[in-house]
Amino acid sequence: MTKNVLVFYGSYRKPRYGIRLARFAIPRLEQRGLNVEFIDARVVNLPMLDRMYKEYPPGTAPEAMERLAAKIKAAHGFVFICGEYNWGVQPGLKNLTDHFLEEWFWRPAAIMSYSAQRAAGARANYSWHGILSEMGMVVISSSITIGPIVEALDDVGSPTGVSGAYLEKIFPRFADDLIWWMEAAEAQRLRKLPPY
Ligand SMILES: Cc1cc2nc3c(=O)[nH]c(=O)nc-3n(C[C@H](O)[C@H](O)[C@H](O)COP(=O)(O)O)c2cc1C
Repeated sequence: MTKNVLVFYGSYRKPRYGIRLARFAIPRLEQRGLNVEFIDARVVNLPMLDRMYKEYPPGTAPEAMERLAAKIKAAHGFVFICGEYNWGVQPGLKNLTDHFLEEWFWRPAAIMSYSAQRAAGARANYSWHGILSEMGMVVISSSITIGPIVEALDDVGSPTGVSGAYLEKIFPRFADDLIWWMEAAEAQRLRKLPPY
Protein backbone atom coordinates (compact mmCIF):
# COMPACT_ATOMS: atom_id res chain seq x y z
CA MET A 1 0.00 0.00 0.00
CA THR A 2 1.25 3.52 -0.79
CA LYS A 3 2.64 5.30 2.25
CA ASN A 4 1.64 8.86 3.10
CA VAL A 5 4.51 11.09 4.17
CA LEU A 6 4.20 14.63 5.45
CA VAL A 7 7.22 16.90 4.96
CA PHE A 8 7.23 19.82 7.41
CA TYR A 9 9.09 23.11 7.09
CA GLY A 10 8.68 26.00 9.46
CA SER A 11 10.60 29.18 8.67
CA TYR A 12 8.48 32.34 8.62
CA ARG A 13 11.41 34.54 7.73
CA LYS A 14 12.57 35.61 4.25
CA PRO A 15 14.44 34.36 2.27
CA ARG A 16 13.51 30.93 3.64
CA TYR A 17 16.57 29.13 2.33
CA GLY A 18 15.51 25.90 4.01
CA ILE A 19 12.67 25.42 1.56
CA ARG A 20 15.40 24.29 -0.85
CA LEU A 21 15.80 21.16 1.24
CA ALA A 22 12.08 20.39 0.85
CA ARG A 23 12.40 20.94 -2.90
CA PHE A 24 15.28 18.47 -2.90
CA ALA A 25 13.67 15.81 -0.71
CA ILE A 26 10.06 15.74 -1.98
CA PRO A 27 10.66 14.55 -5.57
CA ARG A 28 13.17 11.98 -4.35
CA LEU A 29 10.66 10.55 -1.88
CA GLU A 30 7.98 10.55 -4.60
CA GLN A 31 10.33 8.64 -6.90
CA ARG A 32 10.20 5.87 -4.29
CA GLY A 33 6.44 5.57 -4.69
CA LEU A 34 5.54 7.57 -1.58
CA ASN A 35 2.55 9.88 -1.45
CA VAL A 36 4.19 13.06 -0.19
CA GLU A 37 2.56 16.25 1.02
CA PHE A 38 4.47 19.40 1.90
CA ILE A 39 3.27 21.13 5.06
CA ASP A 40 4.55 24.69 5.22
CA ALA A 41 3.95 26.04 8.74
CA ARG A 42 3.82 29.62 7.45
CA VAL A 43 1.03 28.71 5.02
CA VAL A 44 -0.93 26.72 7.62
CA ASN A 45 -0.30 29.64 9.99
CA LEU A 46 -1.76 28.26 13.20
CA PRO A 47 -2.17 30.86 15.96
CA MET A 48 0.39 31.10 18.75
CA LEU A 49 -0.49 28.11 20.90
CA ASP A 50 -3.54 28.85 23.02
CA ARG A 51 -5.43 25.56 22.96
CA MET A 52 -4.14 22.25 21.63
CA TYR A 53 -6.24 20.54 18.98
CA LYS A 54 -7.55 18.00 21.49
CA GLU A 55 -8.68 20.78 23.83
CA TYR A 56 -11.32 21.98 21.37
CA PRO A 57 -14.71 20.29 21.60
CA PRO A 58 -15.03 17.94 18.57
CA GLY A 59 -15.72 19.83 15.38
CA THR A 60 -14.93 23.29 16.77
CA ALA A 61 -11.17 23.60 16.12
CA PRO A 62 -10.12 26.17 13.51
CA GLU A 63 -10.43 24.71 10.03
CA ALA A 64 -6.68 24.72 9.29
CA MET A 65 -6.00 22.84 12.53
CA GLU A 66 -8.78 20.32 11.85
CA ARG A 67 -7.46 19.66 8.33
CA LEU A 68 -3.90 19.25 9.55
CA ALA A 69 -4.94 16.90 12.37
CA ALA A 70 -6.62 14.64 9.80
CA LYS A 71 -3.47 14.63 7.64
CA ILE A 72 -1.20 13.84 10.59
CA LYS A 73 -3.47 10.97 11.67
CA ALA A 74 -3.51 9.55 8.13
CA ALA A 75 0.27 9.74 7.65
CA HIS A 76 2.61 6.76 7.83
CA GLY A 77 5.65 8.89 8.59
CA PHE A 78 7.05 12.39 8.85
CA VAL A 79 10.05 14.35 7.64
CA PHE A 80 10.99 17.50 9.56
CA ILE A 81 13.13 20.08 7.79
CA CYS A 82 14.67 22.08 10.59
CA GLY A 83 16.55 25.34 10.62
CA GLU A 84 18.47 26.63 13.62
CA TYR A 85 18.00 29.85 15.58
CA ASN A 86 20.50 30.52 18.36
CA TRP A 87 21.33 26.84 18.77
CA GLY A 88 17.64 26.06 19.05
CA VAL A 89 14.57 25.27 16.97
CA GLN A 90 12.62 27.66 14.76
CA PRO A 91 9.47 28.86 16.55
CA GLY A 92 7.05 28.56 13.61
CA LEU A 93 7.52 24.82 13.25
CA LYS A 94 7.64 24.25 17.00
CA ASN A 95 4.37 26.15 17.42
CA LEU A 96 2.71 24.00 14.75
CA THR A 97 3.89 20.72 16.25
CA ASP A 98 2.87 21.66 19.80
CA HIS A 99 -0.79 21.91 18.77
CA PHE A 100 -0.91 18.13 18.47
CA LEU A 101 0.12 15.17 20.59
CA GLU A 102 -1.74 11.85 20.23
CA GLU A 103 -2.16 12.62 16.53
CA TRP A 104 1.61 12.01 16.11
CA PHE A 105 1.86 8.75 18.03
CA TRP A 106 3.22 5.42 16.74
CA ARG A 107 4.83 6.62 13.49
CA PRO A 108 8.47 7.25 12.51
CA ALA A 109 9.95 10.71 11.99
CA ALA A 110 13.10 11.70 10.13
CA ILE A 111 15.04 14.93 10.64
CA MET A 112 16.85 17.00 8.00
CA SER A 113 18.57 20.05 9.44
CA TYR A 114 20.30 22.92 7.73
CA SER A 115 21.75 26.32 8.46
CA ALA A 116 23.69 29.16 6.93
CA GLN A 117 26.86 27.75 8.42
CA ARG A 118 28.90 24.57 8.41
CA ALA A 119 27.32 23.61 11.73
CA ALA A 120 24.33 22.73 9.49
CA GLY A 121 21.66 23.08 12.15
CA ALA A 122 23.14 20.20 14.15
CA ARG A 123 22.04 21.73 17.47
CA ALA A 124 18.46 22.14 16.26
CA ASN A 125 18.59 18.60 14.87
CA TYR A 126 19.58 17.34 18.32
CA SER A 127 16.77 19.32 19.99
CA TRP A 128 14.16 18.08 17.55
CA HIS A 129 15.19 14.49 18.25
CA GLY A 130 14.04 14.84 21.87
CA ILE A 131 10.96 16.89 21.00
CA LEU A 132 9.66 14.42 18.42
CA SER A 133 10.36 11.49 20.73
CA GLU A 134 8.38 13.20 23.48
CA MET A 135 5.51 13.59 21.01
CA GLY A 136 5.35 9.83 20.48
CA MET A 137 7.23 9.46 17.22
CA VAL A 138 10.05 6.99 16.67
CA VAL A 139 12.91 9.16 15.43
CA ILE A 140 14.98 7.20 12.96
CA SER A 141 18.72 7.16 13.49
CA SER A 142 19.52 8.29 9.95
CA SER A 143 19.63 12.04 10.02
CA ILE A 144 20.79 14.70 7.59
CA THR A 145 22.69 17.89 8.43
CA ILE A 146 23.49 20.23 5.56
CA GLY A 147 25.29 23.53 5.62
CA PRO A 148 25.85 26.08 4.38
CA ILE A 149 22.49 25.44 2.72
CA VAL A 150 23.10 27.91 -0.12
CA GLU A 151 26.27 26.06 -1.12
CA ALA A 152 24.51 22.68 -1.22
CA LEU A 153 21.29 23.47 -3.09
CA ASP A 154 20.14 26.03 -5.62
CA ASP A 155 16.78 27.78 -5.50
CA VAL A 156 14.87 24.86 -7.04
CA GLY A 157 16.53 22.31 -4.78
CA SER A 158 19.08 20.93 -7.22
CA PRO A 159 22.34 19.86 -5.55
CA THR A 160 25.38 22.07 -6.16
CA GLY A 161 29.07 21.65 -5.39
CA VAL A 162 30.68 19.27 -2.95
CA SER A 163 27.95 19.62 -0.28
CA GLY A 164 25.21 19.00 -2.82
CA ALA A 165 26.97 15.87 -4.09
CA TYR A 166 27.30 14.65 -0.50
CA LEU A 167 23.58 15.25 0.11
CA GLU A 168 22.68 13.29 -3.02
CA LYS A 169 24.93 10.44 -1.86
CA ILE A 170 23.49 10.13 1.65
CA PHE A 171 19.81 10.68 0.86
CA PRO A 172 18.99 7.12 -0.37
CA ARG A 173 20.03 5.55 2.95
CA PHE A 174 18.01 8.17 4.86
CA ALA A 175 14.92 7.42 2.73
CA ASP A 176 15.43 3.65 3.00
CA ASP A 177 15.58 3.95 6.79
CA LEU A 178 12.35 5.96 6.94
CA ILE A 179 10.52 3.58 4.59
CA TRP A 180 11.65 0.53 6.58
CA TRP A 181 10.29 2.05 9.79
CA MET A 182 7.03 3.15 8.15
CA GLU A 183 6.49 -0.41 6.98
CA ALA A 184 7.45 -1.81 10.38
CA ALA A 185 5.15 0.58 12.28
CA GLU A 186 2.22 -0.13 9.97
CA ALA A 187 2.72 -3.91 10.20
CA GLN A 188 2.78 -3.70 13.99
CA ARG A 189 -0.34 -1.48 14.13
CA LEU A 190 -2.17 -4.06 12.00
CA ARG A 191 -0.90 -6.94 14.13
CA LYS A 192 -1.65 -5.31 17.47
CA LEU A 193 -3.44 -2.10 18.41
CA PRO A 194 -1.25 0.53 20.09
CA PRO A 195 -1.47 0.15 23.89
CA TYR A 196 -2.83 3.67 24.42
C1 LIG B 1 17.48 34.65 14.93
C2 LIG B 1 18.48 33.82 14.16
C3 LIG B 1 19.33 32.98 14.82
C4 LIG B 1 20.22 32.17 14.11
N1 LIG B 1 20.99 31.31 14.80
C5 LIG B 1 21.77 30.44 14.12
C6 LIG B 1 22.49 29.43 14.82
O1 LIG B 1 22.43 29.32 16.03
N2 LIG B 1 23.24 28.58 14.10
C7 LIG B 1 23.33 28.65 12.73
O2 LIG B 1 24.02 27.85 12.13
N3 LIG B 1 22.64 29.60 12.03
C8 LIG B 1 21.87 30.48 12.70
N4 LIG B 1 21.16 31.44 12.01
C9 LIG B 1 21.30 31.53 10.56
C10 LIG B 1 20.29 30.62 9.87
O3 LIG B 1 20.85 29.34 9.76
C11 LIG B 1 19.94 31.16 8.48
O4 LIG B 1 19.37 32.46 8.59
C12 LIG B 1 18.98 30.24 7.74
O5 LIG B 1 18.91 30.66 6.40
C13 LIG B 1 17.59 30.25 8.38
O6 LIG B 1 16.70 29.40 7.69
P1 LIG B 1 15.60 29.96 6.68
O7 LIG B 1 16.35 30.78 5.62
O8 LIG B 1 14.96 28.74 6.08
O9 LIG B 1 14.69 30.83 7.46
C14 LIG B 1 20.27 32.25 12.70
C15 LIG B 1 19.42 33.13 12.05
C16 LIG B 1 18.53 33.89 12.75
C17 LIG B 1 17.59 34.81 12.01
